[in-house]
Amino acid sequence: MTCVLLLAAGHAWEATALTGLDGRRDVTVLKRCVDVDDLLAAATTGQADVAVLALDAPGLDPASVAHLRRYGVRPIAVTTARPDDLDVREQAQRLQVPAVLAASDLSDLARAVTSVEDVPDTREHHEVVPPLPEVRDGAEHHRTIVVWGPGGAPGRTTVAVNLAAEVAGRGAPVVLADLDPWGGSVAQQLGVLDEASGVLGGARLAGSGQLEERFGSVLRGVGEHLSVLTGLPRADRWREVRSAHVEQILDAGIRRGHVVVDTGFALEEDGAADLAGRPTRNAMTTTALDLADEVVVVGAADPVGLARLARGLVDLRERGGAAPVRVVVNRMRATIGWSEKEIAGMVEGFTRAAGLHFLPDDRAAVDRALVSGSPVVDSSEGALSRAIAGLTDAVLPATVRESRGRLRGPVGRRRLRSA
Ligand SMILES: Nc1ncnc2c1ncn2[C@@H]1O[C@H](COP(=O)(O)OP(=O)(O)OP(=O)(O)O)[C@@H](O)[C@H]1O
Ligand SMILES: [Mg+2]
Repeated sequence: MTCVLLLAAGHAWEATALTGLDGRRDVTVLKRCVDVDDLLAAATTGQADVAVLALDAPGLDPASVAHLRRYGVRPIAVTTARPDDLDVREQAQRLQVPAVLAASDLSDLARAVTSVEDVPDTREHHEVVPPLPEVRDGAEHHRTIVVWGPGGAPGRTTVAVNLAAEVAGRGAPVVLADLDPWGGSVAQQLGVLDEASGVLGGARLAGSGQLEERFGSVLRGVGEHLSVLTGLPRADRWREVRSAHVEQILDAGIRRGHVVVDTGFALEEDGAADLAGRPTRNAMTTTALDLADEVVVVGAADPVGLARLARGLVDLRERGGAAPVRVVVNRMRATIGWSEKEIAGMVEGFTRAAGLHFLPDDRAAVDRALVSGSPVVDSSEGALSRAIAGLTDAVLPATVRESRGRLRGPVGRRRLRSA
């Protein structure tokens, strides 16, 4: 008997699928799931064998499909487009779904459900590595680098993850902290899945005065030199993390290595809540900015992104932080029509930056990294990796020396789970 979970995400083909499966003696539809969360919860019961999924279901991402696999549920996708469209094939590949059927012809569904073989999961799996210990001496040379940027997903997380990975690849200890109060994505970019939230655990320990001795228990080691404090599992849990917790977390981090922080985009502060001692939405971001040794501001290279970057640089200046600001213009490409020189002229009009860096747009390299759950600097040798290395040289010049003469290895000691 093949037990099926169905996630049609409101598409009309759900009825056809049910009719096609209901009449079969060797197939049972266990559940019609309302959304991805419902699907993942149903998979966790361990009773399902196959999930029939709308390829465009909101929130369906590689991590959810990996979750299905962990519970032995084989995915089949249904698309309302043509299964051989490039977009559809790319999406199926990104999700690692081996079979895609057309919604307009589900006559093969029952056969597909009973015969689908799973492809081995080609994502890399991290070995569990112990988190970084406190250093005995030299902690005073560690620096806190806070990666910030305006709204519109300019690439803050990508820059933070890869900067940290590059530092670790050079042999310097680094703690990467996901302090985005609008929902964390560092764990996903690094393939660290199904973990308890590091930042919530850290906040709890800070609240009970145990953070200093137990910080290691909320860090996740990802390779010899990199430890990650994973972010909020859901955006609405920001209330559990107060400014004082963030201060303690960053302080504990700096005792172990350089600290690279991923933050949210918003900077508004709620003075009334602050005074009343209530947590404020953007406290994670603003506290990190206040404690930064250097702020790396990421903007997207397109016209909208550059306008937001300009506004963001002004907002940041108006906050009056003391840390130097370095600007990264991400996803640079020739089709935008502006030269680096022109963009530099614009940036100079808004801030006195410690430096300006350009990272090329490289969808293929970034996708490869996302699918394998590893940083770009580990999985590609291209221009984007070189540009990140250049940024790292400027942000943490001390690491240049450490990398010289040693072969750069991946940050994580990885093994491919055998097929
Ligand atoms: N240099 C690049 N080339 C191609 N794609 C990129 C590049 N940098 C980032 N991206 C892509 O842009 C998207 C947004 O990146 P990322 O998640 O790092 O942004 P963010 O600013 O952290 O967004 P959020 O507001 O969601 O936290 C992702 O799909 C990422 O893979
Ligand atoms: Mg992000």
